[in-house]
Amino acid sequence: MGLLNFWTISFCLTMSSAILLGEYEDPPNIRTVHHRVLNIIQDWGYPAEEHFVTTKDGYILALHRIPHGRQARKDQQARAIPVFLGHCLVGSSAMWAFGPPEYSLAYLLADAGYDVWMPNIRGNTYSRNHTHLDTCGSCSEFWDFNIETSALIDYPLFIDFILEHTGASDLHFAGYSMGTTQFLMLMADKPEYNQKVRTAYLLGPTAFGGNATNPMLPLAQHAEYIVGTFRLFGFQEFLPNLYGLQSRLFGKMCRTTALNLKICTEAFALSIGLSSDKMDSNLVPLYMTHMPAGGSLGQFHQYAQLFRNGGKFTKFDYGTLSNLVKYGSSEPPEYDLSQVSAPVAFFVGDNDGFATKADADKLFDALPNVFQNELLPSEGWTHLDFFLAHDAKELVNERIVHFIQDFDAAHSS
Ligand SMILES: *[C@@H]1O[C@H](CO)[C@@H](O)[C@H](O)[C@H]1NC(C)=O
Ligand SMILES: *[C@@H]1O[C@H](CO)[C@@H](O)[C@H](O)[C@H]1NC(C)=O
Repeated sequence: MGLLNFWTISFCLTMSSAILLGEYEDPPNIRTVHHRVLNIIQDWGYPAEEHFVTTKDGYILALHRIPHGRQARKDQQARAIPVFLGHCLVGSSAMWAFGPPEYSLAYLLADAGYDVWMPNIRGNTYSRNHTHLDTCGSCSEFWDFNIETSALIDYPLFIDFILEHTGASDLHFAGYSMGTTQFLMLMADKPEYNQKVRTAYLLGPTAFGGNATNPMLPLAQHAEYIVGTFRLFGFQEFLPNLYGLQSRLFGKMCRTTALNLKICTEAFALSIGLSSDKMDSNLVPLYMTHMPAGGSLGQFHQYAQLFRNGGKFTKFDYGTLSNLVKYGSSEPPEYDLSQVSAPVAFFVGDNDGFATKADADKLFDALPNVFQNELLPSEGWTHLDFFLAHDAKELVNERIVHFIQDFDAAHSS
């Protein structure tokens, strides 16, 4: 697992370099490490809000919002159109907020006059509250959810809350990785939600996994064993954010000297398999403080199923007997992608082992309303390039803003 290597490598390198070098002044330009998304957004000079919703099964979820750009909207009367940004597995709204604003989709949209919403699904750093369940890392009831639980309960609640709060009748959506999976699950399972989506942008669309080549594949065959072992030892949470520890280690040590920062950047790059010259090293301490943000074993388990089930986009497989009780069939049913009528665009990398070109093409054939299936013209584009690489600005983020503006210009009344 890339992220597990990440821990070991970063920990060792950071510790040894800090011990060898002692503490010095901050290198210039480095971003302050804020521990809350609201502070990151405000630090970049943008307005930020936090809202909470409670699901019918008691999870209290946070949505972060950038209601407008650095300049207040000229026409305060005109309502801005909302955009929903869906984060990845063990991610949070932080992935959209890191910045810098000149590169990042959330800020580009806010400056283009959009009302940007970044919900957090159950279990991550910001949505770890419940009306009556205890939320500890070994509390099995709280962590008993998988990818589609949030797709079918949290996602529609977010959409309805955003529309109600803003008075808009529909919104744009952009999702990355698990955000794309959850969008497709919801639109296929509750097709009435397609009417609430103006357009949708899937960054690394992840539904069919039959052609995946990522490092999770060897583990996927043993998912039940791995999940069982974790649970046996009392772990229910998957890749938690070790808040105090992470911020002490990475937020502080990585920032003590230019060399420490370089070491952290290299360790981070190595662990996630991305070349360090593709990313902004001034932001690495911030990335390392916020990622991972925690998820459930069930989410990992469901991806494992999708990567090994021969290329089907199915509901969660509970095993023959439980499937019979839950679905009335021994196999889990496939999602009916022909129901996804909202206009969708894909952005696909040539070196993305989670969302391959082959599987995106298969998805393209299964969906009725794809207006763009784009292979990014950048050689070696991986899954993480979408939010870490410099050239995501031109190749992905600015293009999404243009697509959205063109759509809205053509559909304004
Ligand atoms: C959880 O709820 C408590 C009490 O309402 C609140 O103080 C805390 O900030 C919440 N935590 C999160 C992560 O939302
Ligand atoms: C791999 O991708 C091809 C091309 O889209 C598709 O026809 C095939 O079904 C996929 N294989 C699996 C095992 O899903």
